[in-house]
Amino acid sequence: TGDTTLDVGFVNTASCQSAITYIDGEAGILRYRGYPIEQLAEQSSFLETSYLLIYGQLPTAEELAAFDQRLRRHTLLVEDMKNFFDGFPRDAHPMSVLSSAVSALGTFYQDSHDPHDPEAVEISTIRLMAKLPTIASYAFRKSQGQSLLYPSNDYNLVENFLWMTFGQPTEQYELDADLAKALDLLFILHADHEQNCSTSTVRLVGSSEANLFASISAGIHALSGPLHGGANSAVLSMLTKIKNEGGDVADFVRRVKNKEDGVKLMGFGHRVYKNYDPRAAIVKKTAHELLAKAGDNPLLDLAMQLEQTALEDDYFVERKLYPNVDFYTGLIYESMGFPSNMFTVLFAIGRLPGWIAQYREMITDPATKIGRPRQVYVGSPARDYPQR
Ligand code: CMC
Repeated sequence: TGDTTLDVGFVNTASCQSAITYIDGEAGILRYRGYPIEQLAEQSSFLETSYLLIYGQLPTAEELAAFDQRLRRHTLLVEDMKNFFDGFPRDAHPMSVLSSAVSALGTFYQDSHDPHDPEAVEISTIRLMAKLPTIASYAFRKSQGQSLLYPSNDYNLVENFLWMTFGQPTEQYELDADLAKALDLLFILHADHEQNCSTSTVRLVGSSEANLFASISAGIHALSGPLHGGANSAVLSMLTKIKNEGGDVADFVRRVKNKEDGVKLMGFGHRVYKNYDPRAAIVKKTAHELLAKAGDNPLLDLAMQLEQTALEDDYFVERKLYPNVDFYTGLIYESMGFPSNMFTVLFAIGRLPGWIAQYREMITDPATKIGRPRQVYVGSPARDYPQR
């Protein structure tokens, strides 16, 4: 059709200009607003990194404290919204609950839907950042048949999430500082990743001038698939299956290479990285440190064997397939006490500031147009409706 170019999966088509995240996939480089991910992982916090992504600069100490205080004041959900959690079946997938609840937030905050009103977008930003961890912990507790806890103003965003998830109403909660730090680090690593499937979804939905809640809700659904954020729980299922079938790593790799039943090495490969995913390198180190404390972990051993076998195998070398961020995160989340259906929810909490930053950039960019890809039509030529 004329000069339309077919690019299935947008392998080579840029949909926007962006000043948020830089990736060099050949060199394995990731930067948020120019800062290398390794330095942010070492020195920043999730709160500060979120500010950096959303507002474009690192905050001063006062700006960070003000951001923190604002978020602490918005963590509560409207009481009526708790009824939502009773409506879902107990075994509902928490990603579906998360997306539905974010969509529902939009019904409670109809005053802030105008995407071209900066104040509306700002208050929606704060509400989403503050409330998503509350929603996530409620999805978790409902699935466990436990009562819901109120957020506490004594805690920051990540601490609050841990309290609401693992705290007990009748017991004093001992916050595990190492756990909070490790989760904070994982959230930093997930905070943005330029135009991936879920972020492109947020931008595409937002380009129709849909509000922030609607756009983020769509992004959560996009993240849920096993080729995207859902890979972190798929990796754990894969490792568990290999272990239960006798732990034969070489045989599993053979089946992957032969594409038997479409089996893939989950947590491997990436559209952009043709080198080691820099996030995976940091996660791997963290996994070792954290899991070493808990003693032997047969699944970690299996994961390392799988990685080594794959990295030395021509199939993976030729295709430049390396471990991605999801390869080791599931093991860490499991050791923290999360069931596997919560892993992708954790990814969503981490990715939220990136989605918001991208939405804000899109909506304020004068070059933005409604997203409307073209197609190459391969259907029937014109034909007449039969006379009956
Ligand atoms: N296991 C086995 N073979 C693979 C894998 C894998 N994990 N990934 C890619 N390949 C093969 C693929 O079959 C193809 O081979 P051939 O040329 O013989 O047909 C070749 O490598 C190129 O792969 P592709 O499917 O064209 O690559 P893509 O850029 O379209 O897909 C991907 C990227 C991430 C979807 C894919 O690598 C994959 O499915 N990986 C497993 C799922 C996963 O770990 N996803 C998480 C991605 S990172 C974080 C996130 O986004 O959430």
